[in-house]
Amino acid sequence: MDSALQTQMKQTAARHALSLVRDGMTLGLGTGSTTAFFVQYLGAALRAGALKAIRGVPTSEATAHQARALGIPLISLDDVPYLDLAVDGADEVDPDLNLIKGLGKALLREKLVEVHARAFWVIVDESKLSSQLGERVPLPVEILPFAAKATVRFLNSLPACRAELWLREDGEPWVTDNGHYLARCWFDGGIPDPAGLSSTLLSWPGVMEHGLFLGMAAGVIVATPAGVKVMERA
Ligand code: A5P
Repeated sequence: MDSALQTQMKQTAARHALSLVRDGMTLGLGTGSTTAFFVQYLGAALRAGALKAIRGVPTSEATAHQARALGIPLISLDDVPYLDLAVDGADEVDPDLNLIKGLGKALLREKLVEVHARAFWVIVDESKLSSQLGERVPLPVEILPFAAKATVRFLNSLPACRAELWLREDGEPWVTDNGHYLARCWFDGGIPDPAGLSSTLLSWPGVMEHGLFLGMAAGVIVATPAGVKVMERA
């Protein structure tokens, strides 16, 4: 897809999500290029006085930095029992609104923030839609640096999984905001049983969290060249 068009669609999805925000809400602020537009528009709405008394919980240091620069008041999850709304991007969305997230390297905090939201809305352009999770992108898995190779070996032992430690260009592992490493798992033809895979992954002590977000999204705002399509959980 043409990258200018894709940027436009990310902006359209982000603008649409802003219409879900009401005065006084506590918000989970996602991570990634699509959410960065949402955070930008939120900051502008606060500055213009179109929205008031918003407080946000960022899902990464990058989002925290952006929100602070825009004057969006930030709080911690420790300060509130729940969030009214969380808005975040995704790397893949299946027809049941299950997601792969984390290719922006923030999956653990994203999941922790988004499980606290009364409503979690996802903003994507249509290139993120797929019929089966894992058919387009690898699944990111956040792992403990201790015995990281052993954990990657475990991941490679899973049926149809090809896993690698995720390295930066200089050959060093990416380190998350939580001080962990990341692995990427490719599944030829997609992940046949995401729920089963989720349980298997979480049973391994070296796995801190994974990028399958199953049954979490209340809705997905999909920007297409023809306009916005809203997919809502029944
Ligand atoms: C961050 O870790 C991810 O979960 C992002 O939400 C996801 O990668 C989508 O990012 P883009 O909006 O940049 O495509």
